[in-house]
Amino acid sequence: MNKTILCIGAGYVGGPTMAIMADNCPDYKVIVVDKNEARIKAWQSDTLPIYEPGLDEVVKRARGRNLFFSTDIFGGIEEADIIFVSVNTPTKTFGAGAGKAADLQYWEKTARDIIEHSSGDKIVVEKSTLPVRTAAAMQRILQSNTKGLNFEVISNPEFMAEGTAVTDLQHPDRVLIGSMNTPGGQAALQRMLDIYLHWVPREKIKTTNIWSSELSKLVSNAMLAQRISSVNSISALCEKTDANILEVSAAMGLDSRIGSKFLRASIGFGGSCFKKDILNLVYLSEFYGLPEVAAYWEQVVLINDYQERRFVAKICNKMFNTIAGKKIAVFGFAFKADTGDTRESPAIYVCKMLLEERARLAIHDPKALENAMLDLTGETGDITYCADPYEAVKGAHCIAVLTDWKDFLKYDFRKIYELMEKPAFIFDGRNLLDHQAMFDIGFNVYPLGQPALSHLK
Ligand code: UDX
Ligand code: ADP
Repeated sequence: MNKTILCIGAGYVGGPTMAIMADNCPDYKVIVVDKNEARIKAWQSDTLPIYEPGLDEVVKRARGRNLFFSTDIFGGIEEADIIFVSVNTPTKTFGAGAGKAADLQYWEKTARDIIEHSSGDKIVVEKSTLPVRTAAAMQRILQSNTKGLNFEVISNPEFMAEGTAVTDLQHPDRVLIGSMNTPGGQAALQRMLDIYLHWVPREKIKTTNIWSSELSKLVSNAMLAQRISSVNSISALCEKTDANILEVSAAMGLDSRIGSKFLRASIGFGGSCFKKDILNLVYLSEFYGLPEVAAYWEQVVLINDYQERRFVAKICNKMFNTIAGKKIAVFGFAFKADTGDTRESPAIYVCKMLLEERARLAIHDPKALENAMLDLTGETGDITYCADPYEAVKGAHCIAVLTDWKDFLKYDFRKIYELMEKPAFIFDGRNLLDHQAMFDIGFNVYPLGQPALSHLK
């Protein structure tokens, strides 16, 4: 049996997933390829292209032993007979379905590369999140080869979250494998099981038909995002009624049917998946003639936009209805803590709205400053990027906490208060800080979905 695995796409999904696979399957050779040369160089170096706690050690252990990073996509296709595809599937920006449907051009290009450079049968595994029934299109493209080759398509979506990728991959809640109900499909499934059983208990591996697997991935993300939008919508109501969203979330979460996770109110969810996958679900529902279903899920995204706007409106309103010319220290730009990733970060939208109000921004983030600079390229206004938090707050009128970095808790807020203009404000978009302690120092504190602590009468 050929025990070489190829992964096309060395991004946030492909890189960590394959590193864990190689680490757990020393009898397999795992090659990860990408068309992006700089990215591959980084995977080969001591500074990996993405920051994930624990990933460096895993990569160091396996790299050069049975884990290889390369730009030789065609050579990899030739060598392996199991090919994971984790290229990006962004939201379409053009043509039919623009703004909602998935852009499958990278996927299709990969399928065509696979046909062209294969001289034997292959198993092609969908790792990227794809619209339901993509496998049918893929199978059709792959089977159109004129070499008489057989390709089996498997759906094996990835559920890891950034920042916890290593633990999620090492100890997954479940591994989902969708296959065709044909002898070829079932044989391909067995090959997948052989890989995952190296480290995942059998009872955690769920096998389904291929369409269920594709759809489950979209729906898992939509359901998670829906919980956040639900709680965020209630945070607005809390602010009107003196209820406290932390207490409401905790009380709800004690119901074992609801569960306590993913009920943290925030300025909104970000990340490369949630918005994209929901919009994809909306598009699919519309495509299949289900406008009510589409409208239901679209509301999850609309509430997320509303929450960002509401946060900016509150800053303006509480700071005497104008922030023009005022310096705002933005604490956190990453879409969540423990990552340098800023894709779809609510901070992008919040900062753009603050700039529209002519505020001056000093952005501080422990890992995401480079990406922040890229995201705000072309924005007009006064923006500085500060690795040092004390630099960011110098002469600032307020701090806006946009990411839940635990690092912020260690800062000296007495010193920060001294450095700021008075009255000094904190708008905590993540309910991260100790609000009473901040109030006692002298700050006017505006948490999310909780009563304000203000010295202003
Ligand atoms: C998500 C899914 O969790 C993962 O299963 C899927 O494979 C990819 O998409 P990720 O985007 O890495 O993972 O991050 P996640 O931890 O889910 O957080 C997404 C966003 O929701 C972040 O902006 C986070 O700050 C926010 N969030 C999360 C909240 O606002 N409140 C919460 O209670 C939880
Ligand atoms: P994800 O978060 O889904 O992993 P990323 O954007 O981080 O998405 O990674 C996708 C990777 O796929 C990128 O590094 C990109 O260069 C790579 N890629 C896209 N199309 C191709 C292709 N046709 N061949 C090889 N690599 C590709």
